[in-house]
Amino acid sequence: MDTELVVGAGCSLPPGRYGYDPLRHRVHRLGGRPGGTPPGVTAELSVTARRTVSHYGHRAWPLLLLDTGHAAAALFLASRALGAGEPGLRLAAGSQQPLASVHVAPPGPVHRADGLLCPLLSASAPTPEELLVRRSAPPPLPGTPAPETLRAILTTAARAGGGDLRWCAAVGSPRPGLMELAPDGATLRRCAAGEARPTLAAWAAGQAWIADAGAVLLARGCPTDADAAHIRHTHLRAGFAVHLAHITARRHGLAARPVGSWQQADLGAALGAAPGQDWIVHGLALGTLRAEKENTP
Ligand SMILES: Cc1cc2nc3c(=O)[nH]c(=O)nc-3n(C[C@H](O)[C@H](O)[C@H](O)COP(=O)(O)O)c2cc1C
Repeated sequence: MDTELVVGAGCSLPPGRYGYDPLRHRVHRLGGRPGGTPPGVTAELSVTARRTVSHYGHRAWPLLLLDTGHAAAALFLASRALGAGEPGLRLAAGSQQPLASVHVAPPGPVHRADGLLCPLLSASAPTPEELLVRRSAPPPLPGTPAPETLRAILTTAARAGGGDLRWCAAVGSPRPGLMELAPDGATLRRCAAGEARPTLAAWAAGQAWIADAGAVLLARGCPTDADAAHIRHTHLRAGFAVHLAHITARRHGLAARPVGSWQQADLGAALGAAPGQDWIVHGLALGTLRAEKENTP
């Protein structure tokens, strides 16, 4: 992933365009600021697909898009944690780079460029410590989360995930099935009965540990005939939302791990609807046991 900063007025760096070197954690000036640069700083995220494509083949693009969504969410949350004002988000719809931009305004009245989303979040701003301790927990992730915790995670995901995605969570015993937010947005309801986790494990490139995860949050959507812009936007948004859901899960004491390697995961067809309409785009495995162990003195 490549990051450039477009710096406007009101920042600690002189206005201009800067490249970011993650290995040295340094920025270097590339040139002047483009016309119309708003006050504050905009981080622009692009990817060079070549390396990932040589490793993952045709599965590389979905993973790169999800990854970029996660990175945008990390910047978005860092801005909130540092009290820099409500950040704005832009996710690419066309084929252009950058794939995602996060605009952080300087303190004071906010001047937003056109087309920036300001995702409405329910939770209070995270602390810097919360962001620093967010890690993907190593499997296994046993232990079914409490319904109230699942509701909070589904709410975060649905708010951050926008309108194109639908969200549910596969849970295990004592009543295995798929849970989703009821239309009132305040309660959970069962949208399918039965054990889905072994099938999810098979669909996630055979990652057997998923069958024993306490719950698996799922983002679905993206029909087979979706055009490139739709696929791109849906995956970026899913990565963004799952990252925020991960922070919510940690806040409730859960262990979590994103799952992005979905293959032939036609959830809609598995539930009896028309095939090719409702593919799993992204997931977040959740469990309680490890978190409880960590909290035990
Ligand atoms: C888009 C995305 C997809 C991922 N897919 C998987 C997966 O299928 N299986 C898995 O074990 N971990 C998966 N991970 C977890 C990563 O391996 C983990 O996030 C990475 O090692 C970085 O660690 P961190 O989250 O602790 O910073 C995924 C992470 C991301 C961001």
